[in-house]
Amino acid sequence: ASTASAATIVEHTFYVQNLTVSKLCNSQVITAVNGSLPGPTIDIQEGDTLIVHVFNKSPYNLTIHWHGVFQKLSGWADGPNMVTQCPICPGSQYTYKFTIIEQEGTLWWHAHVSWLRATIYGALIIRPRAGQSYPFPKPYEEILIILGEWWNANVVDVQNQALATGVLPNISDAYTINGCPGDLYPCSKNQMYKLKVEPGKTYLLRIINAALNNQLFYKIANHKMTVVATDACYTKPYVTDVVVMSPGQTVDILLTADQQVGSYYMAARAYASVAGAVIPFDSTTTRGVVVYEGAPSSATPVMPALPAFNDTPTAHKFFTNITGLVGGPHWIPVPLMVDLQMFITIGLGLEVCPANTTCEGPIGTKLSASMNNESFVFPISLSMLQAFYFNVGGVYTTDFPAKPPIQFDYTNASFNINNPSLFFAPKATKVTKLKFDSTVELIFQNTALLAVENHPVHLHGFDFYVLAQGFGNYNPATDRKKLNFINPQIRNTIGVPVGGWAVIRFRANNPGVWLMHCHLDMHLSTGLATAFVIENGPTPETTLPPPPADLPQC
Ligand code: C2O
Repeated sequence: ASTASAATIVEHTFYVQNLTVSKLCNSQVITAVNGSLPGPTIDIQEGDTLIVHVFNKSPYNLTIHWHGVFQKLSGWADGPNMVTQCPICPGSQYTYKFTIIEQEGTLWWHAHVSWLRATIYGALIIRPRAGQSYPFPKPYEEILIILGEWWNANVVDVQNQALATGVLPNISDAYTINGCPGDLYPCSKNQMYKLKVEPGKTYLLRIINAALNNQLFYKIANHKMTVVATDACYTKPYVTDVVVMSPGQTVDILLTADQQVGSYYMAARAYASVAGAVIPFDSTTTRGVVVYEGAPSSATPVMPALPAFNDTPTAHKFFTNITGLVGGPHWIPVPLMVDLQMFITIGLGLEVCPANTTCEGPIGTKLSASMNNESFVFPISLSMLQAFYFNVGGVYTTDFPAKPPIQFDYTNASFNINNPSLFFAPKATKVTKLKFDSTVELIFQNTALLAVENHPVHLHGFDFYVLAQGFGNYNPATDRKKLNFINPQIRNTIGVPVGGWAVIRFRANNPGVWLMHCHLDMHLSTGLATAFVIENGPTPETTLPPPPADLPQC
């Protein structure tokens, strides 16, 4: 994808199949793309058209999502199962086709059905158009760092166990850097990612958090990092010694090899933010090594001191200090008029255990999750986008509430089984219908009813401005003064702070059905989701085209 002329087509073929890999003294069957973990990197320029032929040779239903891609008038290629398509059944195929418009940076792709994204994921790098450059000095080299999560088990079994019995998913056995667990895990001395650097040179590290259920701290011993983009949106350069990422998020940093010639570990481990460790999490550490050219091979690398798992002040500092690059490539000023404002509680609750099942939650219940007391259910007979396009009723309803049924008060929120509201949420497929090109403001309130943790909310199809965030109850009288309309960071996934709130804004200028959900898969599959149905605009250029002929049918 490097010709100077416009309209290049970049074509890939993904063969998705089971393979056996050895990790952590264990041999495990996983489902992966083209036999590799992570899967193939897609490297493309802004303005190019991407065509990916997906052949499902695995035993599972499959879809692929292009996380963060706007999908302008190509909603049929977005990928969430039963939202924009029916699954690609075992033995079938589907071709995803879309053009990358008005965005550049580090994104990624992943399976968007069951928990298969644990092993079906890869990077999607969008470079500036020919003749355009980065808004920072050209790096000597570009490096991909994909953080993942690994189970010594089949992830579909892990998911089924978690969803059947309720509260406690099997925690993962390792974190990985580019598929490698690193030398702190058993049998992994030779499975450690190594980055070779030349003294004095500056590298662009494109970091992706592809973990399933964990936010991660990432650090490189003795080195500062300069953040230049988040979620494929340029930022004002921000210098830090630690990066925090929710699943779904990406961070681009500049790393200069400006320390003494030697070797230095890079390491990642969970930011779990769970008060009193109510929910078990994988507390292990993955590491790789940065080796300077000329470093003695005998030297023991320096280990970075990672923040404690529950170091919310450090996480919050990172999440809130980043600002957008005003006037940089693709920068659009914040729309100041809002057509629709919604207040959305997000959090965990419980549901009654189905008959003939044993659930492990309090009083024999199992975990449920909701937004505004609605626990999202994926349709089964027809995808929501087909229902929208062909005007078929009965697949979803457009009555998702614009505010919760009770006035939520964090200071009084506690585990109270007798208070059913927000705790025992009904299950349905409720969406919000939006007029084409309306500006929407969402105020998220983390309920922290069951566990105090940060929820990474991801919106499909759009970037949004993060206008403000904080702890405790959102209070309009004082908190609206904190909204940043000048240089807010722009993202597609926001970690709504533990027991806190966040205000985001986006322009609904793309017709179709767009999922919004917590990017912790345990929470997505227990209902922490909703969707926006955006009506067609007035012209053919603002109308969703018909589905491709090979769109999978249910
Ligand atoms: Cu990266 Cu709906 O997901």
